Amino acid sequence: MSQKPINLLEYESLAKQHLDKMALDYYASGALDEKTLIENRSAFDRYKILPKMLRGVSQRDLSTTILGQSLSAPILIAPMAFQCLADTRGELATATAAVKLDLGMVLSTLSTKSLEEVANYGKKLWFQLYIHRDRNLTRTLVERAEQAGYQALCVTVDAPILGVRECDRRNQFTLPPHLEIANLTSMKNLKIPQTKGESGLYEYFATQLDPGLTWQDLEWLASITKLPIAVKGILRADDAITARECGAKAIIVSNHGGRQLDGAIATIDALGEITAAVGDKIEVLVDGGIRRGTDILKALARGAKAVLIGRPILWGLAVSGEQGVADILSILIQELDNAMALSGCAKLQDVAANLIKQL
Ligand SMILES: Cc1cc2nc3c(=O)[nH]c(=O)nc-3n(C[C@H](O)[C@H](O)[C@H](O)COP(=O)(O)O)c2cc1C
Repeated sequence: MSQKPINLLEYESLAKQHLDKMALDYYASGALDEKTLIENRSAFDRYKILPKMLRGVSQRDLSTTILGQSLSAPILIAPMAFQCLADTRGELATATAAVKLDLGMVLSTLSTKSLEEVANYGKKLWFQLYIHRDRNLTRTLVERAEQAGYQALCVTVDAPILGVRECDRRNQFTLPPHLEIANLTSMKNLKIPQTKGESGLYEYFATQLDPGLTWQDLEWLASITKLPIAVKGILRADDAITARECGAKAIIVSNHGGRQLDGAIATIDALGEITAAVGDKIEVLVDGGIRRGTDILKALARGAKAVLIGRPILWGLAVSGEQGVADILSILIQELDNAMALSGCAKLQDVAANLIKQL
């Protein structure tokens, strides 16, 4: 491809030429047979748009407010570990691009730049928390995020252990020696181990993360922080309701991009029942397979307030660093704007449930 990519799928093809096998497999793969990974995309095709005509769409407004934070469009960058595998500036480049477009970014616990350093570049930042067995370490991470100015915590609940990603097992995935899990190496000298015949990340989860977590741990988290909490990894209406009862202010309907439980429901399918059950009592966000502005439109019509974008950010980062991430975000904003105009929606509130039909 000699020309600059003009959509997210072209970025994905090009990124494959910029990444070594271990990094590419880690970024791209899903769990087991990757059925959920594939379904996250293909499920969008079952929802058809019923566009409205003659609605006066010359002035369009995509802006919104999520957990009290204004954003130029209903888009955040999903938490993704190890971004320095794609670009030397990694999470710093991603954070700078998010600022440029006035969008939110969720920083992973497993970032390759420290949360403090990223805070020097980012503005509308949330911190994604993996609750470790060591609760003192977990508490310190929360305190550090608060002190560094992060505006929400995103606690991931769909990873009591790591999903089985066979490529990572085969590659014996680990970080190259010049990279570290910056938030944790500095505190407890924690590292992604090198393991025979197994992914080092799988081993890290098995030894460091707590598979015994229950809803009481969410209440504990809410009791030790003033930051609003978003619970990431919800796929059922009853869990969404429990999350709210335990103090969450938002949920992220997510199957971890098909990387955890293979066979789990596609997120666009799970969304409708959840938003119907919780109403406006809690903010509902969604991620998984969003590659086009029309996917965002469909997610909003199914009741999401905003979406998170995962892998395409890494493809942008691998192709051209900060500029690549900014391009990915700009393309999505332009495509959403176009889809709204063509379906008769001047503002996000116009994107109602009756804008789509499930076939
Ligand atoms: C390489 C990679 C690393 C990820 N790391 C994390 C993480 O550290 N914490 C987390 O909650 N989710 C993580 N996720 C899941 C994403 O936050 C998100 O749920 C998913 O990527 C969305 O699907 P998409 O990639 O199809 O957009 C990761 C995903 C990828 C692809």
